[in-house]
Amino acid sequence: MSFTEEIAKRKTFAIISHPDAGKTTLTEKFLLFGGAIQTAGAVKSNKITKTAASDFMDIERQRGISVATSVMGFEYKDHLINLLDTPGHKDFAEDTYRTLTAVDSVILVVDSVKGVETQTERLMEVCRMRDTPVIIFVNKMDLEGREAFDILDELEEKLKIDVRPLSWPISKGYSFKGVYNLYKNSLNIFEANKTKIADEVVAIEDLNDPLLNSLAGEYADQLREDVDLINGVYEPLDREAYLKGKIAPVFFGSAVNNFGVQELLDSFLELAPIPQGRMTNTRFIEPEEQKFTGFIFKIHANIDPKHRDRIAFLRVCSGKFERNKFFQHVRLDKKLKFANPATFMAQSKSVVEEAYPGDVIGLYDTGNFKIGDTLTEGEAMQFQGIPSFSPEIFKELVNKDPMKSKQLEKGIEQLTDEGVAQLFVREIGNRKIVGTVGELQFEVIQYRLEHEYGAKCEFQPKNYYKACWITSENETKKAEFKRIKSLEMVVDKDGNDVYLAPSKFILDMERNNFPELEFHFTSEFKTKEESAG
Ligand code: G4P
Repeated sequence: MSFTEEIAKRKTFAIISHPDAGKTTLTEKFLLFGGAIQTAGAVKSNKITKTAASDFMDIERQRGISVATSVMGFEYKDHLINLLDTPGHKDFAEDTYRTLTAVDSVILVVDSVKGVETQTERLMEVCRMRDTPVIIFVNKMDLEGREAFDILDELEEKLKIDVRPLSWPISKGYSFKGVYNLYKNSLNIFEANKTKIADEVVAIEDLNDPLLNSLAGEYADQLREDVDLINGVYEPLDREAYLKGKIAPVFFGSAVNNFGVQELLDSFLELAPIPQGRMTNTRFIEPEEQKFTGFIFKIHANIDPKHRDRIAFLRVCSGKFERNKFFQHVRLDKKLKFANPATFMAQSKSVVEEAYPGDVIGLYDTGNFKIGDTLTEGEAMQFQGIPSFSPEIFKELVNKDPMKSKQLEKGIEQLTDEGVAQLFVREIGNRKIVGTVGELQFEVIQYRLEHEYGAKCEFQPKNYYKACWITSENETKKAEFKRIKSLEMVVDKDGNDVYLAPSKFILDMERNNFPELEFHFTSEFKTKEESAG
């Protein structure tokens, strides 16, 4: 198979959702279709359920499951599908955002009863930042959820994206009859069944076909009306607009009953983009380029202190990755080769000889990598778009054992390289402020510093509203701001200036006082603007 055929065969994507909408269930059904697993229930949910009783090890044990399911490769209808898993728990949202930099498209699962939830909105914002193509799957149609038209309105309004239904539910809840595929003009009649794999699909070219009456019964007329309305209101799907992230095709179904899932998967194969290029700090890299390039988007540490190795997950962007070949680690200006690069097929892991654009491989790492690192065949450039978002919780790291301050320094450096949390250092007094999106990470850090690095720490809560990356063309004004705000000025790990705003009120005030300055809520302001406000 030629190099371009290898690329064209691949689809790399993630399924994302608010917890409980059905991401795990849908993933499992996809794997069943791909023959990657044989029985339902084989994919363990990597959901982290924090109950009063669950201690840190419980959380890590649960989190451990996600290593195996970080990337699930499977073949389906001559395609090689790389499905990247994302943690459902909101405290690990930052992990999810980073994973989204390594995919070419996403399937967003929405619960038909609960509609668009908070996490759904945030995930969509991240997709929008990168114009990632999104397909929406409205799940749990077997429950008494909202009306399909209302759901479409809510999707457009809350997710701020145009939608185009490509399948349409025939009733819902107890009377849910099936799904009409507007894309293929075929009808799929619902039969609650958690184990069946293939759907029986009846092609109905003309909705006036009396066959529809016998299949959809009393709901046939309603379907005819709905389809008329849809075709009147919505333009036919413009694939280009979908690929640019401007419009989201919508499918309806029930993942647990494996209903509407095959239509979703089949349409996904037709619609979703093949591996795309990526921007670097010097130029755009096309996947077809002969020379290998790739970047690290996730690092998973082994929590067993006897085995300190970590797995760094690399997305291949161009060329061919080969085992035991020397590649350039750009940040360290160092040549590295990998004896045991791993690929992941559902739950099994195996050593891979070569990998192509779109593939994700796991590299055993003894501390060379941090999130965002780039590997090339020698070219000095860095992939962009591994953003840090403003954390939501800030705490100062306090050393509890002065004899172990070196261990603490090293530990916090390495843990934040892995992306467990963000580290900000106050220029005055070298104070360390750790920022996270959830309380869980502080437990993780404290535990790991003690067990892996032998350092003891404590966290003192800090009341900051947001971290704002500060830029300005007016260096004098920026210097003035930094001087006035010296107590709230810190630098991130890349040396960027960050202002820790105490409240929205004060932030708004400072923005008025310093119109020459730009305040960004993410570190990725060079490629995409997301100014605070
Ligand atoms: P998540 O990964 O997005 O967090 O969700 P997950 O797939 O774990 O699904 C959350 C719950 O919703 C599960 O029930 C699952 O069985 C159920 N579910 C998924 N799809 C459908 C659907 O189409 N219809 C209905 N009615 N339920 C669905 P659970 O009770 O939390 O777990 P389990 O014991 O059933 O596994």
